[in-house]
Amino acid sequence: MKKYIALFLLLCGTAQATPFADGDAKVGKKLFDQYQCNRCHMAKMGGDGSAIFTRPDRMVSSPEKMIPRIKVCSGAVGANLSAQEEQHLAAYLNQQYYKFK
Ligand code: HEC
Repeated sequence: MKKYIALFLLLCGTAQATPFADGDAKVGKKLFDQYQCNRCHMAKMGGDGSAIFTRPDRMVSSPEKMIPRIKVCSGAVGANLSAQEEQHLAAYLNQQYYKFK
């Protein structure tokens, strides 16, 4: 019986694992500021650049779309982000705006 409870808990744990669990949102925030990620977003949205992450027709509609988009954008800044840095940024954006579970 104990074995089944352990298995059950394990499965629950996996199902609830937050996306981008390898990323650290605090580090992501620093990178976001360092690369001035919002400078184009501000131009596009007029004022509050962060509004781009919460607009109704946002592009990143599921966690799977986050990293590809970050790659496009960081390419535009000329930032050569590591996979780990992408995870940090994704974790930050998710915690702050997207809230994917
Ligand atoms: C050279 C300009 C530019 C820079 C710099 C830039 N972005 Fe973007 N980003 C855009 C544009 C333009 C869009 C919206 C594209 C569209 O609506 O078709 C966008 C959209 C996004 C989205 C998707 C928003 C949505 O609709 O869900 C994310 C996530 C994002 N950017 C992350 C980043 C990150 C992280 C950085 C910093 C590494 C960054 N961007 C830097 C231009 C830029």
